[in-house]
This record gives sequence, structure tokens and C-alpha cells, in this order.
Amino acid sequence: MKCFQYYFKDKSRSRGQRSAPELKQRSTTKTDDSSCTTDGMINSSCSENSQRGISEMYEEKAHNLRVFSFSELRNATNGFSRLFKIGEGGFGNVYKGSIKPADGEGDPIVVAIKKLNGDGFQGHKQWVTEVQFLGVLEHPNLVKLLGYCAVDGERGIQRLLVYEFMRNKSLDDHLFNKAYPVLPWKTRLQIILGAAQGLAFLHEGLEVQVIYRDFKTSNVLLDEDLKPKLSDFGLAREGPMAGRTHVSTAVVGTYGYAAPDYIETGHLTARSDVWSFGVVLYEILTGRRSLERNRPKVEQKLLEWVKQFPADSKKFGLIMDPRLENQYSMSAARRIARLADSCLLKSAKDRPKMSQVAETLEQIIQDSSEGSPSKNSFEATGNDDLIDSSKKLDHVEASKSWKRRMAHLAKLSEHVDDASRRRFAIMQRAKVP
Ligand SMILES: Nc1ncnc2c1ncn2[C@@H]1O[C@H](COP(=O)(O)OP(=O)(O)OP(=O)(O)O)[C@@H](O)[C@H]1O
Ligand SMILES: [Mg+2]
Repeated sequence: MKCFQYYFKDKSRSRGQRSAPELKQRSTTKTDDSSCTTDGMINSSCSENSQRGISEMYEEKAHNLRVFSFSELRNATNGFSRLFKIGEGGFGNVYKGSIKPADGEGDPIVVAIKKLNGDGFQGHKQWVTEVQFLGVLEHPNLVKLLGYCAVDGERGIQRLLVYEFMRNKSLDDHLFNKAYPVLPWKTRLQIILGAAQGLAFLHEGLEVQVIYRDFKTSNVLLDEDLKPKLSDFGLAREGPMAGRTHVSTAVVGTYGYAAPDYIETGHLTARSDVWSFGVVLYEILTGRRSLERNRPKVEQKLLEWVKQFPADSKKFGLIMDPRLENQYSMSAARRIARLADSCLLKSAKDRPKMSQVAETLEQIIQDSSEGSPSKNSFEATGNDDLIDSSKKLDHVEASKSWKRRMAHLAKLSEHVDDASRRRFAIMQRAKVP
């Protein structure tokens, strides 16, 4: 690939080891994908209305990231041992490790270390993007990048990322892996609200707009309190320049989550993320993945299947995750389905902004806690507002279930070797009309 040229500013580290990703761009291909500069750095679409782009912001904050040597990270993971592997994605394997604190004092810190597979340019490009975006972005609902390692040796390149360790894996695991206890309704809502707030921050809370481009359950990581944090910024890019409606890019993302208008045209906007969010809302309701090949044909594509059960119809309840065993508020579920439908509108500009989505979710959560948690065996009667006289009982049950969940998770975390599935990333050129 032509773009396969990159360079790093060597900050006098050991031979072969490179330091912070260099920020200055060489020539760029303006209308092409963000990262397609000749050196693989972010093509800041930094706008007339934003003062600075991510690259400029990164220059200020780069010093906050630790630069690790390869041997430090190799030691931290016992030589990238299988026993320390906690996950696997398109980028490479993820390991649990333990590193010394930055000042060398105190107890070791548990971290997650992601190691790039192979030495292709795509991987390198995503690595640079991730370092630059996560080096700049700070929010309670975004995972914290602690540092990185880049080595260009005779045997190829090594690219690694070091993150805060998220004890409870991902929303994907809790929602779809039957080995995990059922994720209770209220916890689902809290998780999805946090994720919405993270996305709203990216879209609307910074001087430059950030489009995430890979919103899906496996990228929503959960900390010890099941607080959600978005991870994986390798596909992120800056929003359109002032006066522009979209960014033209190569189409990247994940099957089942990417907005059809974006796939069709390569025109990327923040509303592409809103679409993906709508998909995840339906996954939360149904406990089904956006694509499930092992189901009957009419049920394989989640969005097509749920269309047969509209939010305002009597049969709506049939789509709800059976593992919830009716322990949810039907009126809240219907409101969430309506919200999802608005996120999934065909025309991107008709979809709500993420801040509106987050507000609506907050409202739904607030209303359902003012009402009450619930048993839901009423769908046949059409009774939408749930009355639960046994609040106290619910509370006791919830706390028992929470204890069971935590005990189960403690057990699971002993098994650091996880056989997580590989995802498909869409890597095709945009069909620009
Ligand atoms: N910071 C972290 N703390 C703890 N576990 C993590 C962390 N980052 C990733 N993981 C684990 O590694 C798994 C794989 O993550 P990764 O992002 O590489 O792949 P993915 O999200 O499943 O797929 P994709 O490559 O399409 O994003 C996650 O599902 C999670 O269980
Ligand atoms: Mg991921």
C-alpha cells in the first residue's frame, strides 16, 4: 500500500525503540480516509470552527502517556503467555499484566496490554489513531490509555497499547455469554446510559468532534462497579470541517453495526455512531446479537426481526430477552425501543444527537425508578404501567443476585485465558456515487 510509510520522532530511547507517535503530517489525501497520510498519521480534518485538531491537542498531552520498552511488557505478561491472555480482537491479543507504577514506588498496577498481530499498515494506522485519540480524550466513560510501546526491529514492528484494567470484561460478555449470570434490567440501563454519555462527549463535548465508528457491545468495557467505558479508538476520526456535512472515508467498522448510509456512500457523520447505538439498544432489549447466523433465516438479522414487533404493538413483549424472566418495566422497554427506532432512521439527519439520546435514557431510568421495578407477566392484558407491591422483596432479591454475580465474576476472572471470538471488520472502499 502506498501509505505504508511512517516515521516516529525518536525521543532517545533504546535503539530500535520509538517514542511518541510523531504528529506533524507529511502530505495528506484530503478527501480520503483520515489516516491515509503518507506517514500514517491522523489527517486532522480539524476544522475552521475548532481551534485545534486531535494532533495539536495530542502534542500538548503526549507527555502524560508512558512509553514502555518491549521487554517491560514482555515481563509484565510472562512472555505474552497464553495464561495471561484475556481476549482477542481484530487488532491482536489482549493480555492481563502487571507493571511498576510510573514513579517506581508502591504496588504494581494491573493493566491490560493489547499486542498488534503482524506488521501490516492497517494495524499500525489503527495503533497510531488509538494513541493519539486516547492520549487526548478524558472522560469517565472512556477507557484510560496508560501508555504504549513501539519497536521497529529487524524482525518487524511491535506495536502495543497499555490500558487501565477493566475487571468485568465487556458488555458483550455479560449480554451474550451464557456462562455469565443474567445482566439485570436496571444494570443494562445504567450501562447503556454511561455508553451514551461517552459517545455524547465525543460528538459534542470537545472542541473537535470525534466520530467513534466502532460502537458495539464488545467495545463497551466494564469496570469493577460495572461502569461502562468505551474502548478501541483505532477507527475513530475527526468530524467534518466547518460548513461540511460529512467526512468522506473508506468504510470501516463492524458488520451489523455500521450505518447503511455510511456503508453505501462512505459519508461519515456523528449520526453513523447514533445508528450503531440504536443497534445496541435492541441488543440490550432482546439479548440477541445484531447478526446471529444460527437462527432461522427470518430471525438472523436483529433489525429485520424486531420490525415485526413494533414498540407500540401488543406483541412487542415477544422480543424481550427471555433471560430477564419478565423482570423489567414494559413501559420503559417500549420507550427504549422507540428511542432505538429514532436512532435507526434511514436518513442520518433525522436521527437524534447523542446528547438527546442520553437525556432520553436518563428520563426513562428516572421514570422507571419513580414507578418501580417489576414483574411483567401482564403483556396479554396490555397493562403498560407496572405495579410491584413487593419492592422490599425485590431489593433483597437484587442484592442476593448481585452477590451471586460478583462471586461468579471473581471465579471467572481466575480464568484469564479467554476464547473470545474474532470480529470481522469491514474494510472496503467506499462506493462514492
Ligand atoms: N482495558 C481492558 N481491560 C480488560 N479487558 C480488556 C481490555 N481491553 C480489552 N479487553 C478484553 O479483550 C477483549 C478483546 O478486545 P478487542 O478490543 O481486542 O476485541 P473486540 O472488541 O472483541 O473486537 P474488535 O477487534 O472488533 O474490536 C475484550 O472483549 C475484553 O474482554
Ligand atoms: Mg474492541
